[in-house]
Amino acid sequence: MTADITELKRQAAEKAVEFIQSGMVVGLGTGSTAVHAVRAIGRLLQSGALKNIVAIPTSEETAHEAESLQIPLVTFDTHPGIDITIDGADEIALNLDVTKGLGGALLREKIVAASSRRFIIVADHTKRVTQLGSKAPVPVEVIPFAERPVADYLRSLGARVEKRLEKGGERPFITDENNIILDCYLPPIQNPQQLAAAIRQQPGVVEHGLFLHMATDAILATPGGIEHLTRS
Ligand code: 5RP
Repeated sequence: MTADITELKRQAAEKAVEFIQSGMVVGLGTGSTAVHAVRAIGRLLQSGALKNIVAIPTSEETAHEAESLQIPLVTFDTHPGIDITIDGADEIALNLDVTKGLGGALLREKIVAASSRRFIIVADHTKRVTQLGSKAPVPVEVIPFAERPVADYLRSLGARVEKRLEKGGERPFITDENNIILDCYLPPIQNPQQLAAAIRQQPGVVEHGLFLHMATDAILATPGGIEHLTRS
């Protein structure tokens, strides 16, 4: 990844943090973009510019990062509603539908996003697509017992299916909820709603990485400046 892209990720994430106010319940996303938001929140809490923030992380990785920054973490048991969640994405369509999950946290990410009043996607401009499926696979989280029937079913939908492996390794990638991920490579998706509904039909599918009608905002950092898109 070039230094420029890292800088754009940071700019997008830090812009989104400007929408957080003291006293809010915040959803903390996962990935190399969202981590910049977590770090910025940590700094603002340390300096006293933000007060009384509590947060719900979308992965164990993010939980560790937040704990190292002394961001107070809570659960849905005590805080069932989230004011703002800031998270990254792998692809962002013009209508703010996104694919997520290349970082492997899509299940908790979708649960957190669905409980959020405002769900802000942060990304660099390279994530923008005209049709989902153009650049990234659709990850599908599956219980290990169901791997074969789910993989066969996803192939019947036209996907080339690859079981996700640990980075640089040969062992299967295991999610925070002890499931596997089947990455589905598809041609650009004409009808994401229809595909999402079809994927859900198969027993053993826990969740998929199509986040449709969920994002309220997208903050995209481009070489020419920040673009703030809102769902119309
Ligand atoms: C993790 C995700 C990430 O938000 C997504 O993969 C984007 O990651 P990055 O900001 O590192 O490009 O969905 O499950």
